Amino acid sequence: MNPPTAFDLSGLELPQPDVDAIEHSTGLVQKILARIEKNNGVIGFDEYMQMALYEPGFGYYSGGTIKFGAFGDFVTAPEISPLFGNCLGRQARALVAQGCAARVLEFGAGSGKLCARILQTLPNLERYQILDLSAELKQRQQGYLRNLLDNEQFDKIEWLNSLPDEFDGIVIANEVLDAMPVHLLYKQDDWSELGVAYAEQRFSWRDFAPADHVLEAIRAIESRLGELPRGYRCELNLNLQPWFRALAQSCRRAVVIIIDYGYEQVDYYHPSRRNGTLDCYYQHRVHSDPLIYPGLQDITAFVDFDACADAAEAGGFSIAGLVSQRHFLIENGLLEDARQQSEQGDVQQRLALSQQVKTLTMPDEMGQRFKVLALQKSLELEMPAMQRRGADG
Ligand SMILES: C[S@@+](CC[C@H](N)C(=O)[O-])C[C@H]1O[C@@H](n2cnc3c(N)ncnc32)[C@H](O)[C@@H]1O
Repeated sequence: MNPPTAFDLSGLELPQPDVDAIEHSTGLVQKILARIEKNNGVIGFDEYMQMALYEPGFGYYSGGTIKFGAFGDFVTAPEISPLFGNCLGRQARALVAQGCAARVLEFGAGSGKLCARILQTLPNLERYQILDLSAELKQRQQGYLRNLLDNEQFDKIEWLNSLPDEFDGIVIANEVLDAMPVHLLYKQDDWSELGVAYAEQRFSWRDFAPADHVLEAIRAIESRLGELPRGYRCELNLNLQPWFRALAQSCRRAVVIIIDYGYEQVDYYHPSRRNGTLDCYYQHRVHSDPLIYPGLQDITAFVDFDACADAAEAGGFSIAGLVSQRHFLIENGLLEDARQQSEQGDVQQRLALSQQVKTLTMPDEMGQRFKVLALQKSLELEMPAMQRRGADG
């Protein structure tokens, strides 16, 4: 089998990567091809996604592409506005005031902006630990934070390569779980798994029989929610259980705050959502073909928050609540903060703040699609922002 020399976009209107990017991607294609050949011509989509995002030196997160901001592929909440980090900082301050250790552990810290905001709103924080799978982002975070912060603040930050043995404090993961590899399942008479094969110089889909544990997991969902229709395609994230188990083992007395786009299970596996939730991002364009541009585009799936809550409880956490991002931010003082900053700013700053508030909170933007799940381990702290009130929660 030979790797491709250009990308067949099959009608998708995306910018063509430059020569260097194609060369980079071709290196990854060769690695994926070798894995496919070794595995008798097909690998599970979860394995493809793992390599496309995290293959050392080549994956989207582990290679050198610009991922954030105007030149990147997507814009996350900490990039949209410092108001987001201020809200998390206030939530953290309220937890510390009730006796939670003044330490933060952030998963997947992106450009480092959220870390900077939280350190600036919480001067008494003792330590800020970052655990990111991406060595390239880790370097970027170090450059950005070293430039921005004074020495005292910068020295509080520690980059980890694995979970700490005994963590006390606040764990934050913003848009991390959506980047976990997922299985893709398709229902005909029974369930098959969609795998990735290679033919005529491009990756292609190929069905295969799912392993027993995969089949059991999707059938358990059907037995809870009702049988899904023929022709239904969905994702299944089997990394949640081990991730929450490892996190629970690492946490001693901790609060965990997970923010991501996703649904409760009844909506995630709704019979009308027949094509799943997988999205790909390339230079600010969203599309649905994960098999093109391996290593150059982001691939994500929405988060099943019931599966998270089940995995978290199985690991030993108690659930403090699940609310919309809109509710969480407003309850943590977003509007008051924006109003105060507006009063001090000029017209342009006021307009920008108002746009940021809209993007973070409007139901048709991030407000409802993004949710916040909070967990506690060996703590019972008050978290009023996690209490749902009416339909807005
Ligand atoms: C979409 S980015 C979000 C970055 C940042 N949190 C933000 O909001 O801008 C996903 C990040 O999660 C990291 N990541 C994914 N899975 C992870 C894991 N299991 N542990 C640590 N980091 C992870 C990726 O390397 C990447 O930095």
